[in-house]
Amino acid sequence: MIYLDSNATTQVHPEVLEAMLPYLTDQCYNPSSGYRAGKKVKEAIEKARVQMAQLINAEPDEIYFTGCGTESNNAVLLSLAKMAGENKRIVTSAIEHSAILRVCEELERECFLVERVGVDSEGRLDLDAWKAAVSKGDVCMATLMWANNETGVIQPIAEAYKAANDAGVPFHTDAIQAVGKAHVDVKEVPVDFLSISGHKFHAPKGVGALYIRQGVGFEPLLRGGGQEKGKRSGTENVASIIGMGTAAELMRSRLEMDCHDCVGALRDHLEHRLLTELDGVQINGSMEHRTKNTSHLSFEGCEAAGLLILLDEYGVACSAGSACMTGKQKPSHVQKAMGFDDARAKSSLRISFSILTTKDETDKAVEAIKKAVGKLRSVQGTGGVGPVVVYT
Ligand SMILES: Cc1ncc(COP(=O)(O)O)c(C=O)c1O
Repeated sequence: MIYLDSNATTQVHPEVLEAMLPYLTDQCYNPSSGYRAGKKVKEAIEKARVQMAQLINAEPDEIYFTGCGTESNNAVLLSLAKMAGENKRIVTSAIEHSAILRVCEELERECFLVERVGVDSEGRLDLDAWKAAVSKGDVCMATLMWANNETGVIQPIAEAYKAANDAGVPFHTDAIQAVGKAHVDVKEVPVDFLSISGHKFHAPKGVGALYIRQGVGFEPLLRGGGQEKGKRSGTENVASIIGMGTAAELMRSRLEMDCHDCVGALRDHLEHRLLTELDGVQINGSMEHRTKNTSHLSFEGCEAAGLLILLDEYGVACSAGSACMTGKQKPSHVQKAMGFDDARAKSSLRISFSILTTKDETDKAVEAIKKAVGKLRSVQGTGGVGPVVVYT
């Protein structure tokens, strides 16, 4: 299968797996155990913490391992809500992942007021509206994703952070689609909290991290044995943490080697071929500000749901909108926020690459997409999106 859905998840890199294996077998000890073998496992976790910190230019003791990106997001928002006092306003964007949206909805039911700032047609935050929202005086937190999971569009994080910080508002960023793919540096943009997920950059699923800037208050979500300096109790997922550290180091070296330019070159090659070899193709989102691994494209006259079925049959895996939206008939909230009409929103595919994608796979995927689009247009016509009827 040709896998072009790396924003949904990535393959565990062979080097990552190799680093993990001892901790699933003979190095199975609990890092909290007092004997030497346990202490060695603890040391390995601390090395992973350094590796994770280096990828985002943090200090190691600002990194806390969690169970996933969703947990990191939930932990921050619920902590800030708990410490909110009289300030009940939350400022976020209209294009966040469900791991932020659903928490905000829950907080709304608990008497918080949530302001969802919009984006322009390129999927970038309306900064003026953001600045006005964070300056209202009763804001307890601001949370904005670094890069969008559907479009790959990178948000004006530095400016959004500054506005929040000037107003004295704690700032969190869901950087799950940016870390390992784009330049993320917490000394350049000194956010208070930043969420990370391992499986988006070749570590296993079920491990995440939370960056908490030194000195910033935090109320733990999980309490118990006091692991992670009391900020996230629970016996550590040792092998996955080691895997995430190794993956972080791998991604740092690839970013330094400009390897993501190679990923970007494949993405650009795919887009160039589709735009020149097919009619009615549109690239969605900012061309200037987007992660190099993501392409979000609309195919006039084709329902994405039908395209996905055909592509699956031709051996290509990609997605419509985000993985979490798959199977739901509604156009994604991200495309709605960008002002797309239903036809354009429902005819959009997300194609996302990784450092393991090859040129040969990219070319084969182009041929499969051309075939699928041709087939759908022959049954649906190009005048608009009709009912999804796929004859194979
Ligand atoms: C932007 C964003 N936030 C949060 C998440 C959730 O991360 P995890 O799957 O590690 O819980 C994802 C994963 O799809 C994501 O893309």
